[in-house]
Amino acid sequence: MSADIIDGKAFAASIRDRVAAATGNLKEEFGLTPGLAVVLVGEDPASQVYTRSKERMATAAGMASFEHRLAEETTERELLGLIDNLNADPEVHGILVQLPLPPHLDSALVINAIDPNKDVDGFHISNAGRLATGQTSMVPCTPLGCLLLLKDRIGDLSGKHAVVVGRSNIVGKPMASLLLGANATVSIAHSRTADLAGLCRQADILVAAVGRPGMIEGDWIKPGATVIDVGINRLPSETEGGKDRLVGDVDFAAAKEVAGAITPVPGGVGPMTIACLLANTVVAAARIN
Ligand code: GUN
Repeated sequence: MSADIIDGKAFAASIRDRVAAATGNLKEEFGLTPGLAVVLVGEDPASQVYTRSKERMATAAGMASFEHRLAEETTERELLGLIDNLNADPEVHGILVQLPLPPHLDSALVINAIDPNKDVDGFHISNAGRLATGQTSMVPCTPLGCLLLLKDRIGDLSGKHAVVVGRSNIVGKPMASLLLGANATVSIAHSRTADLAGLCRQADILVAAVGRPGMIEGDWIKPGATVIDVGINRLPSETEGGKDRLVGDVDFAAAKEVAGAITPVPGGVGPMTIACLLANTVVAAARIN
């Protein structure tokens, strides 16, 4: 039997519609236009694509988008100066510094310089701590998008065994906190986990966030499981001169024959990340009233 394909693209579009409606209300009722500042340092091609997409979607939802493109050799002092200005700017409600930063910049220092109330990525140490301790917070966009897809598909997650493969601060750890908060039983797996395949086979919910193309094989999946593939891996085209291919961390063709439901790449988690970023921005803007 073939799995249901979870349509993250359509779900994300419905969230963006609601964000646009909320943005319209804030403008009408309070004369307030939610503003998102996107900061990109350097020339990383993937980051350029992501940031352009975030800015385009923010504008399409009626928000103000403030774009800051900084040279690769920008100093920490210059970047921290920009963040101070954005923190103080009443037209900016959300600040996003695209990661990864060039290696000479200390990401933790930079992220923690953002006003936590404007930290729409949810990466600031105080937002990470709030999430880990079950308090309301700015929630990182990718795991939030995954949780919304899971709740939409499954409903109540109580008692489900969720296996999160990957322990990053951006996805794995906050994903585990969100799943725990939804009463799932959570295992966090990583490169040193013994018998990773055996652990994955126990998962009712499998979230793959490792950044290794096709690493999760079809026979690692419990029949009927819900599989969320966070990986966005760029592979060279199979044909001469063709476009790069995007593939996930899961061997999609094999997994869809076993899983109950699965997110595709592209068109699964990716669009949800941006929709949740816009939702966080409109919430940040609404909070200041
Ligand atoms: N790099 C990869 N994912 C993200 C994200 O969600 N936010 C930021 N700021 N950078 C990223």
